[in-house]
Amino acid sequence: MLDLSGKAAIVTGSTRGIGRAIAEALVGAGADVVVAARTAADVERVAAELSARGPGQARGIVADVGRYDDCARLIAGAAEAFGRLDILINNAGVGHFEPVADMAVGDWERVIRTNLDALFYCSHEAIPHLRRAGGGWIINIGSLAGKNAFAGGAAYNASKFGLIGFSEALMQEVRHEGIRVSYIMPGSVATEFGLSRKGHGEEWKIQPEDIAQLVLDLLAMPARTLPSRIEVRPSRPPRG
Ligand SMILES: NC(=O)c1ccc[n+]([C@@H]2O[C@H](COP(=O)([O-])OP(=O)(O)OC[C@H]3O[C@@H](n4cnc5c(N)ncnc54)[C@H](OP(=O)(O)O)[C@@H]3O)[C@@H](O)[C@H]2O)c1
Repeated sequence: MLDLSGKAAIVTGSTRGIGRAIAEALVGAGADVVVAARTAADVERVAAELSARGPGQARGIVADVGRYDDCARLIAGAAEAFGRLDILINNAGVGHFEPVADMAVGDWERVIRTNLDALFYCSHEAIPHLRRAGGGWIINIGSLAGKNAFAGGAAYNASKFGLIGFSEALMQEVRHEGIRVSYIMPGSVATEFGLSRKGHGEEWKIQPEDIAQLVLDLLAMPARTLPSRIEVRPSRPPRG
């Protein structure tokens, strides 16, 4: 089994859904993990729940990843708490689905800041720590909406298409330093995010822990190998 003891990780957006499942899996594999999101009560509760399960430790840091200053504080706080940083999971994301003509500027900005700007903010701050650790991983949670555009999806599509370009450029910049960059593109996952868009039965969807399993599988790859893009979809979605 994968042993991440002695490693330190940050998972953004980890109080529920996919992020929480990833944080739980990392703590379960022995890593020390910073749980981060905007809602302080959730951050504290989830960090306490994960620490109680162990064997890794969890700490909570409240941060809005759509703000550069928050990201800088988050990364510095994690490195200080655990003395190092090895793994950054850029997972926090929001959806807003509305035609361009109707969309408020603030909604556009919120999606792009949270889903795209945050990748730069957190990676920019994390890379010096990953270098100091002698290498590491940055795993970005994208979406199949990063390659399949749909009406009403302009903001979300733009952010997730952007995630792919960002991830591939960054991968080429840091690969020779032992820093591996990957991105996972899920289809429908059974979370509150998915519910807000669909609202019907969830049984056919990917479960958050399945995405967490993919993250563990990536982290288990030999240092010579870098699965950089992972598409994952429900095996049996409802027939159209
Ligand atoms: N669910 C799906 O079907 C699906 C499919 C493909 C890709 N994805 C992607 O997977 C990622 C996670 O989605 P999910 O379904 O797990 O979402 P979710 O259940 O809605 O959870 C989102 C998490 O992110 C946090 N968050 C939201 N905005 C934030 C911000 N500005 N700063 C920091 N934390 C923030 C939330 O906590 P607070 O609100 O308290 O901040 C929460 O912990 C997203 O990037 C999403 O685009 C999801």
